[in-house]
Formats: sequence, structure tokens, C-alpha cells
Amino acid sequence: MTSHQVKPSKQLLYSCLWMKMERRVLWVLQTLLVLLPSVVSAPCPRPCFCPQPAELHCTFRSLLTIPAAVPKHVKRINLGFNSIDKIGNTSLSRLGKLELLMVHGNNIHSLPDGAFRDLLSLQMLKISYNKLKEINRYTLQGLWSLARLHLDHNQLELIHPDAFQGLTSLRFLQLEGNQLQQLHPATFSTFTFMGQFYISTLRHLYLSDNVLTSLPSQLVETMPQLENLYLHENPWTCDCSISWFHDWEETSPGVLKCKKDRALPGGQLCPMCSSPRHMKTIKLHAAQRLVCSSPVINSLHRTTSPEDSESETLTSADFRGPIGNISLGLSDEHGNELDLQCSVDKLKELTKISWEQVNKLQLVANITFSVDIRCSVDREKYEQLWKVIAYYSNGPAHLERGVILSKDPYPAYVYKQDSVQDAQYYTGLKVKMLAQPAWLLQTSVELQLNRPQSSTRMVNLILRTNLSETVDTELQQRLRRSWVMIESANRTRKVMVVVLGSPNEMLCNLHSSGQPVVQWMLPDGSKLNSPYSSPENRVSVSRDGRLKMKEVTHTDAGIYYCIANVHEDLAVLSFYLTIQESSRPPPMEDISITSMEEFAGNPISLECSASGSPDAEIHWILPSSRIVNLQATSSKTLVYFNDQICSNACYHCRAAQRTHYEQRQHIFSSRVPKHR
Ligand SMILES: *[C@@H]1O[C@H](CO)[C@@H](O)[C@H](O)[C@H]1NC(C)=O
Ligand SMILES: *[C@@H]1O[C@H](CO)[C@@H](O)[C@H](O)[C@H]1NC(C)=O
Ligand SMILES: *[C@@H]1O[C@H](CO)[C@@H](O)[C@H](O)[C@H]1NC(C)=O
Ligand SMILES: *[C@@H]1O[C@H](CO)[C@@H](O)[C@H](O)[C@H]1NC(C)=O
Ligand SMILES: *[C@@H]1O[C@H](CO)[C@@H](O)[C@H](O)[C@H]1NC(C)=O
Repeated sequence: MTSHQVKPSKQLLYSCLWMKMERRVLWVLQTLLVLLPSVVSAPCPRPCFCPQPAELHCTFRSLLTIPAAVPKHVKRINLGFNSIDKIGNTSLSRLGKLELLMVHGNNIHSLPDGAFRDLLSLQMLKISYNKLKEINRYTLQGLWSLARLHLDHNQLELIHPDAFQGLTSLRFLQLEGNQLQQLHPATFSTFTFMGQFYISTLRHLYLSDNVLTSLPSQLVETMPQLENLYLHENPWTCDCSISWFHDWEETSPGVLKCKKDRALPGGQLCPMCSSPRHMKTIKLHAAQRLVCSSPVINSLHRTTSPEDSESETLTSADFRGPIGNISLGLSDEHGNELDLQCSVDKLKELTKISWEQVNKLQLVANITFSVDIRCSVDREKYEQLWKVIAYYSNGPAHLERGVILSKDPYPAYVYKQDSVQDAQYYTGLKVKMLAQPAWLLQTSVELQLNRPQSSTRMVNLILRTNLSETVDTELQQRLRRSWVMIESANRTRKVMVVVLGSPNEMLCNLHSSGQPVVQWMLPDGSKLNSPYSSPENRVSVSRDGRLKMKEVTHTDAGIYYCIANVHEDLAVLSFYLTIQESSRPPPMEDISITSMEEFAGNPISLECSASGSPDAEIHWILPSSRIVNLQATSSKTLVYFNDQICSNACYHCRAAQRTHYEQRQHIFSSRVPKHR
């Protein structure tokens, strides 16, 4: 204890001494400099050790702050294993030559915005084994040369999705041993391409030993140069939310790494499924069926197997509006002609991304992408369209850009079919295109009819093209990205069972870069903008995204979506509300019944377990209409004192998840004890 009290004053003493010394030394130096311009170097601040003039070692010195007066020319600093609990916003200023900074094994719990802003040469930063909780937009500002960043073994819960924007030199990111639960798809992107595509320059990413249950596919798809990805020791939910994983693994073989450790069975530690229960102990990359299926209460005789219920919820892609408009004037050598006005939907797939650092200030990135074009047609147009483009439903027509027709308000070009590439199916297709955004009109494009998605009223075309852009890294450093995330942690109540007539509340917990706009979509498809209040205030949405209902009715049951928007970014979370009648059992056909007998007054033990993907939550509805929610991972047995014997179905077990539920009644008959 005393040593703790002594330390600061000692420290202060050192710094004061050092400051005094520095002034004197500076004076001497300045005098010397006139005489001997090249020989001088500033002294080593106490209590550090400087093996070389540009190197400062201060490990295991019980330091409480970064030493003051670090020489300006220093290139390497090691302050590992001290008791530094703060980095001031000027502690590291003017260290423009610094290339390596290690402050691992300290007590740093937060970093002031811009703490590193002067460290323009820093290539490696190690803040492992500290107490950081959050990395925001400004935490890493200025680290434009940073290639390796070690943030492992902190307490990070949130990384702002724009934290790494502009850090285009970053290749290695160590985040093992934190508390990350959820990551925005753009989290690790270091530059933005055409203002639309988020791309990461990372090659090595360590996310092991966090509390992640899922990952968005874009997160890895937008890291074209990823070589190593570590995901072990996270509680992965192996359901349809991560079904992309298999395809990604196939196209990026060997990128996912297991931790090598001879002490472990098999010699390695791989990412494992933690739920649903039937997938436990299966390796994530070996999991065969990453699907979602309805809950099924385990019972004696069941013949039906759970059905996939993957497509039954909408995703954020379904809520994104079109990104632009395109008009197409189609004609061919047979004299067929047709004009279409269409909307351009948000990018569907990025098939290929590549980037290359040309020099310190420029990257070149190429991407291949496709957009969905939807055009409304009438019967007459549909027939024309059929003649012009039906050929191009199995394979695309390759079109080359020709003369420009107009520049204002949007550019318009003539495209002609490439007779060499399309030698087999050549119809002399000509297309006048006017598009917004203009970058859709590249020198060559492919146009294809999406036959399965087309109807006589709405035609769906696919436009595929390659984009190339030279990215100015300095511009990227100044760019601000807007983003929004809806918290979906294990404590987020997304599935609810509510007794008819009771109140209910759903909370959409947001993190974002600015003022998000929240909307709720109800089971009937109607949308409520926050803030909202229905007549008589039965249903209301507060500004912070809370949806409240005063008395739930049968029509309230179903799937709800919270939709949050900030500029271009959108996040969606679905909720599922089921209603329980207070008296009668619900009118369900497939309800299953378990009967049992018990002595009045004896404790009873009820069992209910369900399978499904993801795991179902078990809710017990008790005789008093009280509802007890057992989290998916806990015991499925409820022990309840049978002090209120009821001869009908008084105990209901409801297994619910995402979009479905199943319910079973437990019927009791009380037995009179023989010996009394
Ligand atoms: C440093 O922090 C202080 C207060 O904590 C603030 O007033 C000042 O503007 C900051 N300086 C810089 C350069 O960020
Ligand atoms: C597409 O065109 C319509 C009507 O011409 C316009 O209202 C809409 O804003 C345009 N959409 C985009 C994304 O430019
Ligand atoms: C991008 O495409 C151009 C030609 O379109 C090619 O010369 C260049 O090598 C490509 N760059 C990368 C990084 O793929
Ligand atoms: C895009 O580039 C690929 C090669 O990377 C090429 O095969 C393809 O034809 C190009 N697509 C278009 C529409 O130019
Ligand atoms: C939720 O996750 C935390 C770790 O973040 C864990 O400690 C806790 O037990 C989990 N709760 C449930 C109900 O699964």
C-alpha cells in the first residue's frame, strides 16, 4: 500500500528532475549543435534504458505514466509491464519518427481520441493485456503507416465500424481474448471503394477467445488478401445465419486456422459449434448442415423431421431500397425494339475483389459485381422483351460501350453486342443505357435475363461488370462513414411468450455513428416510424426504439422487425411474439399432451426439451398464467410444488425460436395418498 503511495511522488520527482535536466541539456545541446551538428543525441529519460540512441526500454519499472520528454527522434519504445493506466492526449505528441510502440501489460482502460495522431511512422503498436473496452473512430486516427496492431487480451466489447477506415497499411490485427459479441460487416474495412464497397487490407486476423456467436459473410468476403483467420474459442451458433461459411471455406481453402497445441487432443484447437445442442462438439468448418429449422419438442413417437425455416425471415437486404435507376433501349438485328424503365437494387454479390498498393498514397482496387435490375412491364412489352432477350437467360449477352449519347443530367451510352465473345448467340443486340449512378456504365458489361425471378409484370435482369478505381489513401483518412448496429446479445429478448391481454415490450438497442431513424415492421406488414403512438396509445414506439403494447391480442402474434437507418447504412433485427390464452389451451392441431399422476402436495418434476436450429427457448406457462422463461442453455426440467392440483392442462411448455413454436400440455390427475 505504501509503495503505491510512494510511486507517484517518485515518478513526479523523476519527471521534474528530468524536465530540469532537459532544459539544461537542451541549452548545452543547442550550444553544441552549433559546433557539432551531427553527433548529438538526447539523453535517455530515467528510469529507462536506451541500448541505442533511437531506442527506449522501460519494462518492469512500475511506471504510472508514459515518461515525459521522450526524445523526439526515438524510433522504438517498449513500456511493457508497468502500471500505466492512462495515455494522455499529448503523451505521444511529436514522436513522428516512432516506428514501434509497446505498452502491453499495463492498466490502460481508455485511450483519448487522437492519442496517436502524431505517430505517422508507427508500424507496430502493441497494447495487449490492458483494460480497453472500446475502439472508436478517433482512437487510431493518425496511424496511417500502421501494419501490425495487437489489441489482444483487453476487454473490448465494441469496435466502431469506422475505427480502421484509412488505415490502409494495416495487415495484422490481433484481437484474441476480448469480449466481442457482435461485429458490423464493415468493421475491418480500411478503405471505401466508389463510396459503396468496404474493403479490408488485412491479411491476418485473430478473433479467437471472444464471445462471438455469428459473423456476417461480408466481413471476410471483403478481405481479398486474408491469409490467416483464427476463430477458435467462441460460442458459435451453427445455424443458417452462418450458412455462407461453407462456401467461403471452399473458395478460400486453408485461410481458417486452428490453434496448434500439442497438449490438446488432436494437437489443435479449432472453432467449434456451441449451439444448437445437437451440433455441440462439431467443428464449425466440418458442420455439414448450417440450417435453421423449427423447434420440435422431443417426445416418444415422432415421425416428422424438423423443416427448414431459413427463408422465413427477412434480412437487411430485403429492406434496402434501390440504389439507382437505369433506362434501357433495346433493339436487335431482327428489328425487335423495346424501352424499359428500371430500378437498380443494392449490390447482390461481389464476385471478385482485388487490390494492390501502388505507392504510399495510392491503392488500385478492382471488383467484379452484379446488380439486380427490375423493370415493370405490361403484356405487350413482355412479349417484345421475350423476343429480344430470351436467348440471354442461360448465359449473358456481352456488351461493349460505344458512343456517348448525352451527358446531362446523367450519362447515356450505346452498347453493342460483342460479336466475337457471343459468336454462338449473336443477335446484334444494341442497348441505349442511361443510368444513375453513372459508374454502372463501364466499358464492358454483361446483361442477363433472370428468368426464374421474372413475371409478366416485373422483369428481372442482371447487370454484371468490372470496376477499377485508384484510391487516394489521404482522402480515405478523412472519410467519415456512417453506420448502425442493433445489439443482438444473448441477453437480448427476441422470442417472447405473452399472455393474452398482458403488456409487452420489445427493445431495439442501437449503436450508431449518428442519429439513427428507427422503424418497426409489424406482423401485418405495416410500418411504424419512431416516435409513434396509436390512438389510445395501445401501441407506441419511443425515440430510442422501444416498441410497447398495452394489451396484446391474437392479431399481435408474429414476426416483428426493427429497422434502423443511418444515411446509407441499415440494420435489421427480427423478434417473434407468441400469445398464450389465459384459460383455454390454444386451438392447435398438433398439440401434444403428456398425462401423469402425482400425490397432492408432492413436488412434481416436469420435463420439456426441444430440438431445433437455433436452439429453442423453453417457456413454462404455469397455472397462475405466470410465464417462466428458461434460456436455451439451461436445464429443461422444472420442479414445481404441486400445491394447486388442477385436473386439466395447467402446465404448458412452449418451445419457441425465430419464427416458430411448438407447445405441449402436461395434464395432471391427483392421487389420494394411501397412507394418511
Ligand atoms: C486534450 O484533452 C483536453 C482535455 O482532456 C482537451 O481540452 C484538449 O483539446 C485535447 N487536445 C487535443 C489536441 O486533442
Ligand atoms: C429513380 O427515379 C425516380 C423517379 O424518376 C426517383 O424518384 C428516384 O429518386 C430515383 N432513385 C434513385 C435512387 O435515384
Ligand atoms: C486491375 O485491373 C487492371 C486492368 O483492368 C489490371 O491491369 C490490374 O492488374 C488489376 N489490378 C489488380 C490489383 O487486380
Ligand atoms: C470482368 O473481368 C473478368 C476477368 O477478371 C472477365 O473474365 C470478364 O469478362 C469481365 N467482365 C466484364 C463485364 O467485362
Ligand atoms: C451470455 O454471455 C455471457 C458472456 O458474454 C455469459 O457470461 C452468460 O452466461 C451468457 N448468458 C446466457 C444466459 O447464456
